Amino acid sequence: MPVHYVTYKGIKFPPAYNSVHSLSFAHNEFLVRDDDVFNITYPKSGTVWMTEILSLIRSHGHPIWNQTVLNSDRMPWFSTRLGLEAALSYPSPRLLTCHLPRHIFPKSFSHSTAKVIYTLRDPRDVVVSYFYFCQIKPTHSIVYFPALLAAFCLPSVPHGSWFEHVRGWMQMKDRENFFFITYEELKQVGILADPPAPNVLMLVQNASFTAMRQNPMCSSILLPADIMDQTKGQFLRKGICGDWKNHFTVAQSETFNRIYQEKMRGLDVAFPWD
Ligand code: PPS
Repeated sequence: MPVHYVTYKGIKFPPAYNSVHSLSFAHNEFLVRDDDVFNITYPKSGTVWMTEILSLIRSHGHPIWNQTVLNSDRMPWFSTRLGLEAALSYPSPRLLTCHLPRHIFPKSFSHSTAKVIYTLRDPRDVVVSYFYFCQIKPTHSIVYFPALLAAFCLPSVPHGSWFEHVRGWMQMKDRENFFFITYEELKQVGILADPPAPNVLMLVQNASFTAMRQNPMCSSILLPADIMDQTKGQFLRKGICGDWKNHFTVAQSETFNRIYQEKMRGLDVAFPWD
């Protein structure tokens, strides 16, 4: 069945949670508070992982909040229909999440000292993760990997271009209230934390892939099957770096590298996969 995406400012968004009104409200009317902390990502880049990390930081590493409250209530998706209500009634300081590109992020952010944590991931692993995500989302059309990869590069995928998302947010890289980290660096944290303080150890353990898979408050297992059918695969699927090597042919890899070099030209940042 074809998916009827919601389109806002030329970018298409999944219809299940988004509406033109919620996106337009987020962009034009949402009032950012100076003590807000935003978890921002392009899809499949480590969003729910960063949600666990930030929630655990707020709880000084203690996992009770993470284990008893749904991630979407701990860090509401403020640009979506349901998330907006939760964000508006959230007492400060708020933790908020979104996949918005920079140019449709709340206008009120420009005059605030709110913090943005931007997590990004090797785009080739993003495509692979998204491919499997489509298999468990009944609202997504069945996808064929080469077609999805081509759509990602065009780009004609929901949430717009990975390249533009990254370029847009990277314009903020020298701002004091902007911090970016890669999925690949996050994977190193457990290894580097030696010997860790007890609270850091608790945080690392509770934000681990294994712990998150066992926590229904972040594994998405509680979502109804018409939203996500985890009999067809898990949302927390593999949690590794470099799975693209198991999916890209040599020709696909070469073509992708060429497109990547073109689209990222002039960006003065080196990522672990460069
Ligand atoms: S979404 O749907 O856009 O919100 O998805 P997102 O959370 O951004 O990305 C999902 C991928 O992140 C992986 N993930 C993790 N990897 C390692 N460690 C931890 N703790 C972790 N938590 C989430 C998740 O497994 C998805 O990646 P893939 O490659 O599909 O496994």
